Amino acid sequence: MAEYTLSVSVRLGLEGVCADELRRQGLGDVRAENGRVLCTADAHGIARANLNLRTGERVLLRLGRFDCPDFDALYNGAAALPWAELLPRDAAFPVRGRCLDSKLTSEQRCAAVIRAAVGDALGAKYGLERLPETGAVYQIRFFVFKDVMELCLDTSGEGLHKRGYRALGVAAPLRETLAAGMVLLSRYHGKGAFRDPFCGSGTIPIEAALIAKNRAPGLERTFAAQKWAFLPTQVWLDEAERAMDLEYDGTYDILGSDIDPAAVALARDNAVKAGVEDLVRFRQADALTFRPEGPEGRVVTNPPYGERISDKVEAEELYAQFGRLWRQAPPGWSLFLLTSHTEFERVFGQNAAKKRKLYNGMLKCDLFQYRSGEQKKR
Ligand SMILES: C[S@@+](CC[C@H](N)C(=O)[O-])C[C@H]1O[C@@H](n2cnc3c(N)ncnc32)[C@H](O)[C@@H]1O
Repeated sequence: MAEYTLSVSVRLGLEGVCADELRRQGLGDVRAENGRVLCTADAHGIARANLNLRTGERVLLRLGRFDCPDFDALYNGAAALPWAELLPRDAAFPVRGRCLDSKLTSEQRCAAVIRAAVGDALGAKYGLERLPETGAVYQIRFFVFKDVMELCLDTSGEGLHKRGYRALGVAAPLRETLAAGMVLLSRYHGKGAFRDPFCGSGTIPIEAALIAKNRAPGLERTFAAQKWAFLPTQVWLDEAERAMDLEYDGTYDILGSDIDPAAVALARDNAVKAGVEDLVRFRQADALTFRPEGPEGRVVTNPPYGERISDKVEAEELYAQFGRLWRQAPPGWSLFLLTSHTEFERVFGQNAAKKRKLYNGMLKCDLFQYRSGEQKKR
């Protein structure tokens, strides 16, 4: 079976987590870089990565990488790639991408040149002057950085954060890939209590349930590459079956709560859509009545940030009170709290044992990590 190089795009800060995921899935030669993870895979590996990755945003199949100081180099480099071996006569091949820190700066012109090169290659192979582009979509993605061009095919189609469980029209929910990353960083795999006292639409507890159950997040959706002629249909069926065989049948102590009853209703609805309603509980509660109980537990949460000045004082008051509550937690508990507030530790009243920079959309945040009983007060 042919071997490919995959480039998995990932949020800044989650590269290491995504690399671990790929290794656990048995993919080869895994290397984390800024904003992406590279690995090698055959057709099974492409299906496996798409179906199973929790933190990856997209799985790209890298076709080529070449020096690209000008448009001639771009045309020649693109034309030399094996488009005609991979794309059928009716393939649709839109092109999009990014130029960063390079002589080529017009993304539109780069896309046009790449389209011309691919169109010429396919036209020559199929003896057509006009290509119909009525078939499966082979989205071409380019990325030129410091004059080195990379050309890829997007195997995922819609971003992998789209698991298929999220209701539409939710205000400011956390991306599923980021929520899953927070849960994986907390090392929750189903043991002990799991709590999110600011659960909103329930993304963190739902991702925790999928992780506890070892349910592949991509089983409820489709991927662009499922329609590609050069990847056998059977690999997708085999990989879906493999993923289902690896699911656990357990019960877990996962609880999400929120002060807003509408958010709680939405979270319950999302849990049903994700097929984990029997594994997660949701209830309406003020986080300031939250009490960690039992011998072992994790709180993984994303409270309001107070980004607008008018909300800042309120958010700070909430953090201060939540800090006092946290310091009463019994031994064996840990807290992973995501916020963009730059003075969080001061307001919370305690230095974090660890923090990790993560991006929530364009917003720079930190994931503050605490263990109960470590009272490093500020
Ligand atoms: C940033 S959102 C959480 C988003 C969530 N992670 C998601 O994916 O939808 C913060 C949530 O905290 C809730 N909240 C604000 N104050 C609260 C309080 N005192 N107790 C519990 N929840 C509160 C809000 O209703 C909101 O849903």
